[in-house]
Amino acid sequence: GRLRKTFRWMWRLTYLSFGGLAGYTFYIIYQDRHPEPQYEPDPSKKTLVILGTGWGSVALLKKLDTENYNVIVVSPRNYFLFTPLLPSCTTGTIEHRSIMEPIRAILRHKTAAVKFYEAEASSIDPDRKVIKIVDNSEVKGATSETEIPYDMLVIGVGAENATFGIPGVREHSCFLKEIGDAQRIRKKIMDCVETAAFKGQSGDEVGRLMHMVVVGGGPTGVEFAGELQDFFDEDIKKLVPEISSHFKVTVIEALPNVLPSFSKQLIDYTENTLREEKIDIKTKTVVKNVTSNTVEAEITRPDGTKERVVIPYGLLVWATGNAVRPIVTDLVSRIAAQKDSRRGLAVNEYLVVQGTRDIWAIGDCAVAGYAPTAQVASQEGNFLGRLFNNMAKTENHEARIQELSSKMNLQAGNSAEAAHEIEALEKKLRKIKDIKPFRYSHQGSLAYIGSEKAVADVSWWNGNLATGGSLTYLFWRSAYLSMCFSTRNRVLVTLDWLKSKAFGRDVSRE
Ligand code: FAD
Ligand code: NAI
Repeated sequence: GRLRKTFRWMWRLTYLSFGGLAGYTFYIIYQDRHPEPQYEPDPSKKTLVILGTGWGSVALLKKLDTENYNVIVVSPRNYFLFTPLLPSCTTGTIEHRSIMEPIRAILRHKTAAVKFYEAEASSIDPDRKVIKIVDNSEVKGATSETEIPYDMLVIGVGAENATFGIPGVREHSCFLKEIGDAQRIRKKIMDCVETAAFKGQSGDEVGRLMHMVVVGGGPTGVEFAGELQDFFDEDIKKLVPEISSHFKVTVIEALPNVLPSFSKQLIDYTENTLREEKIDIKTKTVVKNVTSNTVEAEITRPDGTKERVVIPYGLLVWATGNAVRPIVTDLVSRIAAQKDSRRGLAVNEYLVVQGTRDIWAIGDCAVAGYAPTAQVASQEGNFLGRLFNNMAKTENHEARIQELSSKMNLQAGNSAEAAHEIEALEKKLRKIKDIKPFRYSHQGSLAYIGSEKAVADVSWWNGNLATGGSLTYLFWRSAYLSMCFSTRNRVLVTLDWLKSKAFGRDVSRE
């Protein structure tokens, strides 16, 4: 009897928690679809221009009280992209729209309206305090180029793909940075498979077409290689068995090991897991030239001798890290204090671009002494959001104090009340003005390495925890799910995971 009672209670509790969760989700969805009315900010307020809709800029926008400024956002991309799940889009484990959040939806939820222009900033003039913007999209109107004056400017334009000037890279390889790149890769994988299965294709040619080469053993290259091998093992092998013996993934890395930023133990674990998955890892191998179907690389042997090899490929994915965007290089050349900046805009501890007064830089385009990651970019954006909110509050409080002081001089009768308010405002001001400089707090690194395994270097009880395996994979999934931008993204990603698990990935080539 007692056991049955406990059981019944457990059932009730389960019902209640599921009911609560479903109710909460519906409430969030309803809120999302019915935002409060927005109002236009006071035109006399300062104009704050934000470049980019990536990790840094969107974190800033999320935190910013937009009623304090006339905010203008400029970006060639009218959405935020959740990059950590981009490698999963290359194989269809996740559909690309599930990790995109329209900037229009993000901005609609701010209290005061924000202007958005889908355009690229092509130059910044810090002396005149104007930026030039260009609409480079397919559809252009009669006006596709103009200038925007700013009082305050935040640069969050991210970085481009590094190619180190290696011949053939731009023409023949796929990058993995934007949605378009992931779509291109997904298409090309299936094109290689179908072409390899073409009637009468020679063995050598099938081998070449089924050889998928990844250059760069950083987290992007490793995660992509893992996803690709999963796609092959779980889907392609079953659906196109005739070419399966030829399928091979190779990761080429210039350094002695992959994932250089992870701990030694996890590097070994990753390399062993990749080898178990039959992924070929070629370390101490530097790609020097790329043609339409081969890469030429230089291998350093254990005895120090060098050997040149030619590797045929069907798909080549280039993931060798970041390079500086032209708009950043252009601005660097206009500021004397930036003459030694090679990797981006050098900023001070409040993220102000060195040598300027009203320009801040965040994320991959800023050099603040941290790695170019989403974690750093979003913490920097969040910091600037708080800083700008405080700056606006300071101005408001100072204006009110001035107003009260002049009133006090005119009408002595109310002076005690005014003095009291001034005292309270000054107290608030002291608190607000005490803004500590930006300090990055590292939450850890996570990477998926294929076959439902992940590696994690996380901070734990003042120490560090390095872990890898299937449990870490569950942690990876829940961490990334919770980090998704919106409830909509979370629901879509969960459905995609369930869908690809239940029905397999979609192998049709769009
Ligand atoms: P971005 O997010 O790149 O945003 C830059 C924005 O600027 C974009 O909206 C772009 O369209 C816009 N822009 C470009 N040029 C201009 C211009 N001229 N004018 C105006 N706007 C412009 N980091 C992690 O911490 N964890 C991860 O798991 C992780 N996974 C990743 C996976 C992949 C495949 C990749 C490629 C990166 C990953 N990163 C990860 C790194 C992370 O995505 C970047 O560090 C982060 O995006 C940097 O943020 P950002 O705001 O500086 O730039
Ligand atoms: P990366 O800079 O981390 O790695 C690029 C790798 O390519 C380097 O190891 C480099 O030695 C190698 N390389 C360069 N030129 C080469 C050549 N010619 N031949 C062979 N190898 C060559 O770049 P990645 O992976 O794109 O990452 C960029 C940033 O984004 C990093 O800060 C990374 O931490 C972050 N990121 C984080 C992820 C995560 O935490 N899960 C996932 C993806 C990116």
